Amino acid sequence: VANRKFFVGGNFKMNGSLKEVETIVSRINEANFDGSTELVVAPPALYLLKIQEELKPPAQVSAQNSYTEKSGAFTGEISPNQLKDANVPWVILGHSERRSLFGDTDKLVADKTKAAIEAGLSVIACIGESLEERESGKTQSVVERQLEAIAKEISESEWKNIVIAYEPVWAIGTGKVATKEQAQETHEQIRQWLAKRISQSVADNTRIIYGGSVNGKNCTDLSNAPDIDGFLVGGASLKPEFIDIVNSQK
Ligand code: G3P
Repeated sequence: VANRKFFVGGNFKMNGSLKEVETIVSRINEANFDGSTELVVAPPALYLLKIQEELKPPAQVSAQNSYTEKSGAFTGEISPNQLKDANVPWVILGHSERRSLFGDTDKLVADKTKAAIEAGLSVIACIGESLEERESGKTQSVVERQLEAIAKEISESEWKNIVIAYEPVWAIGTGKVATKEQAQETHEQIRQWLAKRISQSVADNTRIIYGGSVNGKNCTDLSNAPDIDGFLVGGASLKPEFIDIVNSQK
């Protein structure tokens, strides 16, 4: 089968002072990761460049959002071209907090994804259903709708610049992690959708990572599922156990 490199992202969200974020990053640096897992950390935008200087390669930084336009009168926004200019290689788009609190629709997420890829960034594209959607059996249709919006905007060859983060909304920040079976089932459906809608090779090569209450204890079990290619970690990425999560594939 395909050779998908395990991927772990740490999404710090709007947490930490500069000092605290630097402490977290120096802990990551001290772990001396060998690069067998692709490691990306997403500090608050304000600290991105400072953290980028301090973070030890091959770990890379990611922004938590970017806009659709290259430049212009968009107060408070960051363009993907500015991220590229500043050598920030990754951006997280479509996080459920952006979707539910800041009006990021499927279409806006897709347009942001297209703009980011055109600017030369790689994208961690987040999708996932709410509790109500899961309980009414809509999980598959929701994630496919979210993916279809993106698929309309990007070409087959551009999928190599995307990591899909499946983050069920009910599992984010709740301590209620999806079971290995629940996550595997949805990841497998996403991969089958990629095969049918895009191509077999995109299905084989695209990393599909899981997010939602991943911690140092549950990561090993989840990482054993065949279609889970890594994690997007929120709360635990701020803690020492993040090291165990990065190493969970070994
Ligand atoms: O993007 C990561 C995320 O939303 C999961 O957050 O705190 O449940 O790990 P958390």
